[in-house]
Amino acid sequence: MTASDKAFTGSIPQLYDRLLVPMIFAPYARDLAQRVDAHQPRDVLETAAGTGAVTSALASVLPESTRITATDLNEPMLLQAKTRLSNKPQITWQPADALALPFSEASFDVVACQFGVMFFPDRIKGYAEARRVLRPGGRFLFNVWDRIEENEFADVVHQALQSIFPDNPPQFMIRTPHGYHDAGRIRSDLIAAGFNEIAIETITHRSRAASPQDPAVAFCQGTPMRSEIESRSAPDLEAATKGAADALARRFGSGAIEGRIQALMISAAA
Ligand SMILES: C[S@@+](CC[C@H](N)C(=O)[O-])C[C@H]1O[C@@H](n2cnc3c(N)ncnc32)[C@H](O)[C@@H]1O
Repeated sequence: MTASDKAFTGSIPQLYDRLLVPMIFAPYARDLAQRVDAHQPRDVLETAAGTGAVTSALASVLPESTRITATDLNEPMLLQAKTRLSNKPQITWQPADALALPFSEASFDVVACQFGVMFFPDRIKGYAEARRVLRPGGRFLFNVWDRIEENEFADVVHQALQSIFPDNPPQFMIRTPHGYHDAGRIRSDLIAAGFNEIAIETITHRSRAASPQDPAVAFCQGTPMRSEIESRSAPDLEAATKGAADALARRFGSGAIEGRIQALMISAAA
């Protein structure tokens, strides 16, 4: 992972929230919130909460008496979340690195993390932090994207960028969001951090977009791939985004489109 892979800043939070969340994050957010609710927690910590896709689902499904602490490394993501969720008194927002959580031991019943652990520079350390702040028997619930080939919009955009920049293709998508999907490795990292009762399942959904332009803008401009594209002298960001949109149109058609998305859902006991 490079330093820029975790920089969700500038215009990224707004584009991410408007385009990527409804397209690929919302279905998994609803699923994760229901799994959290099944544990009837009093205190929930969310790490890598981003623009609040899961936080919002948690606030809908959990009783108002459940306290939700939503954290993220990048405060601009939390500020974007707050534009929609400022009227929820049960949510506390706090910038925090998941590898160095500013909370005492045994403070939470559940730690939830949606599509965040792939960005952790040291996953065993991040998992050990989740375990440290969980009460005995508490649950760590998180998900990761499956291989990029199982996630059709992302794969087509990634392949298009390989052709657009043949000498120096952007690798963000396979290096980070789609770079940690081996169930055996995830299990052994959790065991190394002290977790047990580990369950891993594969969950598939359909992703929908109003046009090929939306996923192209979402992935090229609403993720840290933006800075990877901008660091190349040519073509520029607009031309690269158009190339990605053209590739999506060739594969899925030029009107409203849909494609498969697939992730691994992981549950572990502290
Ligand atoms: C793909 S986004 C997922 C956001 C949100 N959970 C969602 O479902 O939309 C990844 C998030 O991880 C955050 N992140 C990256 N490294 C982190 C770290 N070390 N600690 C906490 N958050 C981190 C980023 O700021 C970003 O918001």
